[in-house]
Parts: sequence; C-alpha cells; structure tokens
Amino acid sequence: MSARAHHFRGSLGRFATGVAIVTFDGATKRHGITVNSFTSVSLDPPLVLVSIARNTRAHDELAGRPFTVNILGAEQKALAMHFAGSPGLEPHWVEGTVAPRLSRVLAYFECKPWAAYDGGDHTLYLGEVVDFNYRSGDALAFASGRFTTIPESQLGVEDLL
Ligand SMILES: Cc1cc2nc3c(=O)[nH]c(=O)nc-3n(C[C@H](O)[C@H](O)[C@H](O)COP(=O)(O)O)c2cc1C
Repeated sequence: MSARAHHFRGSLGRFATGVAIVTFDGATKRHGITVNSFTSVSLDPPLVLVSIARNTRAHDELAGRPFTVNILGAEQKALAMHFAGSPGLEPHWVEGTVAPRLSRVLAYFECKPWAAYDGGDHTLYLGEVVDFNYRSGDALAFASGRFTTIPESQLGVEDLL
C-alpha cells in the first residue's frame, strides 16, 4: 500500500463506527462478512446500505440476494474476527424470514435486495428492511483500526428524539 493510501485509510479510521456482519445464502453456501460500512439510508421506504469490496468472496454472490445486517454487541468481537478472515468459532445461526441471521446479536435488519450502485473498488448494496429487532446491551465499536465498546448508557436515546 502506498504512503498516501495508508494515510487515507488512517484518516477514514478516525470515523468511529459500529461493527456488523452481513449474512446471506449464496448459490452453494452460506456467507458472512464483517463490515463497518453499514449506513441507514431511508425511513420510508426503510432502506439500509453496506459497501462490499469487489475482491471479497461475498461480493458477486450478494448481488440480487436477500441479506441480514447483524449489529454486534460488545462481547461479539470473536464473531467479527470469524467473518473477517480469522475463523475460530462455530456461529449460531437463526433461519430468518428472508435471509439467515446470527443469534444473540445487538440488532438485526433482514433485507430484500433493493439496488446496487458502483462504488469504485466497492459496490454499495441497498436493502429494503422487511424485519428487524434489537436487544439491550453494550455495542461493539471500531475506531482507528481497533475494537472498542460503546456502553449501553450512551445508546438507546430513541425516546429523546
Ligand atoms: C472491523 C472491520 C470492518 C470491515 N468492514 C468492511 C466493509 O465495510 N466492507 C468490506 O468489503 N470489507 C470489510 N471488512 C473486511 C472483510 O470483513 C474481510 O475482507 C472478509 O474476510 C471478506 O470475506 P470474504 O472474502 O469471505 O467475503 C472489514 C473487516 C473488519 C475487521
């Protein structure tokens, strides 16, 4: 990686995010890919997006397929690593309405495919949310290339909006 590309990644990393895993059934196997590019897009219709690198195995398989975005809790770092190229544990799957999901996650959004847009060396996959839920608990977060925790006391401010 060039010095400029390294600096660019470091600059992007200053934007703290949550951590999610996109899960879906491909043509021949079940996939999961750890992402921090999850973004809410629209309330009506309910749309979310994830940005998937073209050089991942998930990239081509995800096109036109329903998927679930699983938002991870603070204690699920091993799950994040498992689906980021460091397999180490057997995930517990739940059969969702339109796509498989992971058990005991902090929140989930089951999606039907809505659109896919060119994003350079990534593709922006938008999904229409057809089922969702959340539980209480601390959130897993990612900032400056490291995992960290966002306490529940700093989440769940929906009632104030
Ligand atoms: C915290 C974290 C966030 C990540 N975010 C993304 C992302 O938003 N998009 C992406 O394509 N890859 C992302 N990755 C990298 C993928 O998880 C990784 O390349 C994965 O091994 C690809 O799996 P696959 O090739 O089996 O599909 C992230 C990895 C980590 C650890």
